[in-house]
Amino acid sequence: MARILTGIQSSGVPHLGNLLGAIVPAIKLSNQPDNTSLFFIADLHSITSIVNPNVLRYNTYATAAAWLSFGFDTGKNIFYRQSDIPEVTELMWYLNCSTPYPMLKNAHSFKDKSSQIHNVNAGLFTYPVLMAADILLYNADFVPVGKDQKQHLEMTRDIAKTFNSKYGDLLKEPTPIINEKFKLIPGTDGKKMSKSYNNSINIFLPKKELRKQIMSIKTDSKSIESPKDPDNCNVFKIYELISPKTDSIKMRKDYINGNYGYGEAKAELFNLIINKYSNERKLFNQLMNDKILIENQLKSGAKKARKIAQNLLKKIRIKIGY
Ligand code: ADP
Ligand code: TRP
Repeated sequence: MARILTGIQSSGVPHLGNLLGAIVPAIKLSNQPDNTSLFFIADLHSITSIVNPNVLRYNTYATAAAWLSFGFDTGKNIFYRQSDIPEVTELMWYLNCSTPYPMLKNAHSFKDKSSQIHNVNAGLFTYPVLMAADILLYNADFVPVGKDQKQHLEMTRDIAKTFNSKYGDLLKEPTPIINEKFKLIPGTDGKKMSKSYNNSINIFLPKKELRKQIMSIKTDSKSIESPKDPDNCNVFKIYELISPKTDSIKMRKDYINGNYGYGEAKAELFNLIINKYSNERKLFNQLMNDKILIENQLKSGAKKARKIAQNLLKKIRIKIGY
């Protein structure tokens, strides 16, 4: 039996990149009968960037509603909020003491922001250690993530190795699972879609706003008549990832033949998203109107998660000398 674990920060409402790169593949894995999954909302990580409590709370519920609306089975699996598990911050301290400073200095999550070093807090610097604690606390076997998290997983493995060499084999080195097809979904500006770049497609938005986001995908300025290159167009790239093959073959031909404008392609992408995700959109909105239901799910998941966490921490404390 394999244990699968992954987390998503509550730094915004999950976008199409989060859904295709992390949530959907993770749920697929969780449905295999032999797997047990621990999926959580990384709301401790979120406060490295979010300071408004109402925003944090809203995003946490929205992230939970996204997982649930895509069908995550919380009876078979474990669904929780990171901040409900105090054990994770205790393990983080122990792991801090097994993490070399130069390793953290090389983390992308820190390096990307270090040009603005005066804005970098220690939480951002030690972000990968908290992430390692999230994973190692449950002896997870596999961690499904997008490509941008690969380095964090390598660091987790290194931290586990160092800790084990000091105290004995207590921590399992996890294996990342990176879905090649969905590893990097482009945003409306062509860069990686991210909650922090203001380039997201949020499939849960009301139709009018969603249409506006899709219409804002950047394209070149070729005329309607000109033939176009589908492989250099983000509208097509996203369409191809989520449409039935026959439909994307047709759109590819339309691009190459010309007399087909980007506006038409965007309208097709909009219709596809509305139809493909109509159930999920409905469920998401129902859940956002029933926060008590979400709260109950998270609380009962936290109980199950803490049992596993406390069990491992007990052993760790003894080995360290407490
Ligand atoms: P964001 O960059 O939007 O803040 P997170 O860091 O919260 O996203 O990522 C949550 C999960 O979604 C991670 O597993 C991450 O690798 C994945 N992910 C984020 N953006 C994308 C993307 N554009 N394409 C594919 N996967 C993504
Ligand atoms: N850092 C991850 C991200 O931004 C979120 C995360 C926190 C995570 N803890 C984790 C992902 C543990 C996988 C496993 O996407």
